[in-house]
Amino acid sequence: MIKKCLFPAAGYGTRFLPATKAMPKEMLPILTKPLIQYGVEEAIQAGCDTMAIVTGRGKRAIEDHFDISYELEHQIKGTSKEHYLTEIRDVIDKCTFSYTRQIEMKGLGHAILSGETLIGHEPFCVILADDLCDNNGGDSVLSQMTELYKKYECCIVAVEEIDIKNSNKYGIVDGDFIEEGVVKVTNMIEKPDTKDAPTNLAIIGRYILTPDIFDVIRETKPGKGGEIQITDALLEMAKHGKVIAYKFKGHRFDCGSVEGFVEATNYFFEKEK
Ligand code: G1P
Repeated sequence: MIKKCLFPAAGYGTRFLPATKAMPKEMLPILTKPLIQYGVEEAIQAGCDTMAIVTGRGKRAIEDHFDISYELEHQIKGTSKEHYLTEIRDVIDKCTFSYTRQIEMKGLGHAILSGETLIGHEPFCVILADDLCDNNGGDSVLSQMTELYKKYECCIVAVEEIDIKNSNKYGIVDGDFIEEGVVKVTNMIEKPDTKDAPTNLAIIGRYILTPDIFDVIRETKPGKGGEIQITDALLEMAKHGKVIAYKFKGHRFDCGSVEGFVEATNYFFEKEK
């Protein structure tokens, strides 16, 4: 039903300098696979076939990754190493990629708005590739959300319970449970201090958005950090009862931090060995 998935991928990845000086942070690998490929595979599993990637300067490696490398293919064709390319070939076969650049870094809301030209007027998924999710063979987090979309047909944010003292790292939602694991959102605040956090339900990097969000983002004033926040735009939608939060099944790693990145590496190493 939802075919397009947007990947905001213009950020600098300063927490991983110097590794990210000349390499996009989305290309950092967990074991042998770049973070963004995990995200694309999750989107494919959820039924998407069109990946809309919002990049910026210095992100060419992402485009090259999701393309044929003729020289490499030629070199390893017919050798024992060929299987190393199976997974990425499979991804390239199953979907198409389109790209646009976010010219100025004005926040996640602005990045999503920059992707409007690739999305058009249809509901779409958003994956923040540095939030790496795994559900141990069960439905991926995004699949769980696209399933839920069929029932509610409104914006959905994935949430998890966090230690409230970390509230200033996340968008925090408040609302009323309408079924097991599903909250009708009445309030959301971007990165509040702990004393101002209404709950410990934190948004993680998986969203389903309806296309009316673009007009709302256009009207959204800069918020936390002087940036145009998707959380603020969604709050506007929530006022009209159009947002739910979903407590997903599975595990999420914050690969935007070195600690979370190492945790994910160990987890996938144990899982795959
Ligand atoms: C963004 C969102 C925030 C959300 C987080 C999830 O923040 O603005 O609401 O909780 O992603 O990872 P960022 O981590 O880009 O600062």
